[in-house]
Formats: sequence, C-alpha cells, structure tokens
Amino acid sequence: MERYAVIGNPIAHSKSPRIHAAFAEQTGQVMTYEAVLGPEEGFADTVRAFAASGGRGMNVTVPFKLQAYDLADQLSERAQAAGAVNTLSFRADGIHGDNTDGVGLIRDLQDNLGCALQGSRVLLLGAGGASRGVMLPLLATRPDSITIANRTASRADELVERFRPLCEATVLRGCGFDAVGDEGFDVIINATSASLSSEVPPIPPQAYSGCQLAYDMMYGARPTPFMLEASDRGAARTADGLGMLVEQAAESFDIWRGIRPKTGPVLAMLRTQLATGR
Ligand code: ATR
Repeated sequence: MERYAVIGNPIAHSKSPRIHAAFAEQTGQVMTYEAVLGPEEGFADTVRAFAASGGRGMNVTVPFKLQAYDLADQLSERAQAAGAVNTLSFRADGIHGDNTDGVGLIRDLQDNLGCALQGSRVLLLGAGGASRGVMLPLLATRPDSITIANRTASRADELVERFRPLCEATVLRGCGFDAVGDEGFDVIINATSASLSSEVPPIPPQAYSGCQLAYDMMYGARPTPFMLEASDRGAARTADGLGMLVEQAAESFDIWRGIRPKTGPVLAMLRTQLATGR
C-alpha cells in the first residue's frame, strides 16, 4: 500500500485525511493517507523516517512549511517563490518540494466562484507566509493591480520588492491599512490571521465599493468576521477558504498520483460536515 500523510502540530483536526481518502475513493487509487503529529524538534527526522517506511509523499502544514522548504533537495518554481513548501514527494533522486496553496486559491476563485482575475484590481490583506505563498499564481492571472496592505507596512513593501521582478502586466503597491486610499477593489482577499482573534483588518469602507468578491483564506462553520464586515460594507459576494483547502489538496494529489480528482463533491461533503459539527 502506498503511504501518504499530512504533518503538522497540532494535527488532530486536519481535514486532509478525509479529503485525500475521498479523492482516492473517487479515482480508484489504492493508497493510505495519515495524520502525523510533527515534533517540536526533529521535523526532518520524522519526515525521513516516514519516507524510509514506504511513504511516497507528505503534505506539510503549520508550523513546518519553512522547514520543509529547507529539507527539500529540489524545489518547484512556485515553492521557491513562496519560500515555503506544503507538498513533499519522495522520489528516487531525492525529496521534491512544491507549494500548491497559491494554485489552490486561484482555482477556487476562478473555477469554483467564477471570479475573473485578469484585468481586475486586487487588494491582498496581509504580508506573511499566506500572502507570499499565493503571489506567483496570482500574478500569473494578470490582474490590473495588486495592492498588498498589511498591519506592518514595511512587510508589505518587502513583499512588493520581492515580487516586482516577476511582475509583467500588474501594478504592484504595498502599504499599511490606513494608506489603502479611497479607491475600490474588484476582489479583496484576507490572508491575515486576524480572524483567529476575531479581528478584521481595518481597511477603509470605500475599498468595498464595486467589490465583486471578498475572500477569507480562513474558514469555519459560520461566516468569518471579515466576511460579515465585507457583506455589511457592500461586497457583492463573500467566500471562506474551504474551497482553497480542497483545491490545494487536489493539486497535491495530482502531483503524487498523476490524476486530478473532482473537487466539487468533496467540498460539498466538507461543508455539510462543518455545518453539522462533524
Ligand atoms: P501566515 O503564514 O499565516 O501568513 P504570518 O507569516 O505570521 O502567518 O503572517 C500573519 C499575517 O497576519 C501578517 O500579515 C500579520 O500582520 P503583521 O505583519 O503586521 O504581523 C497579520 N495579522 C495577524 N494578526 C492580525 C490582526 N489582528 N490584524 C491584522 N493583521 C494581522
């Protein structure tokens, strides 16, 4: 039996085992997918031990994505750009690291939510790992502009400088929340961890003027505080990050198994489970 796993700390509540079990069943793949609690010390040893015992690949989640980046022998272009790895493949020539988070977001936005990014004005809230992880796939959709706004403005500026060389068709700008200005945005993406403390990034209300979609990378049984505020302020539509989770998993599954599962039924299953507290 070919073995896969997700490693993180904590890991008990990870939805990845259910998602990959559903993908495997749907596509007829014979494989197992476990949850591994990563130790505070010795992440690399745990990964190597899993590979040595027949593991073929691992998803990596908080707080190990940077350590996975350091561990990989080869890195995909998008993992390099993200500076983080969420998908490890154990191959004959070494450990391959990829990052499927960004493409997961883009698939959810474009394919599931029907949101056209090309030519749009995007406001990306946050300048941490989550924002860095989605920048390359986001730029590839050729938005008109991306404004990165962050609580600490200097981190937004750093992210802009990092990606400016990779940016052809898009105007990039970095600022603090108070300097977003009075323009409106077509798409607003919350990549901060503010929702974890029930806070909402304090952006000007005008930012929501003409907003087609306000997207929170966090998710839960109920709309997040950011989604509620976005609705109040006039965003035409809001969505949480459950679809991104399923889409990034589908991309990992494809990397490992060479087959792309249908995500719609799995997303619907998770949504029901969330709503009913399962
Ligand atoms: P992640 O990998 O989830 O992006 P991170 O690298 O620690 O985690 O980044 C967290 C992001 O959420 C940062 O942009 C952080 O802002 P700062 O750079 O100013 O720290 C942002 N963030 C966290 N809590 C926040 C809050 N309560 N309000 C607004 N932004 C917040």
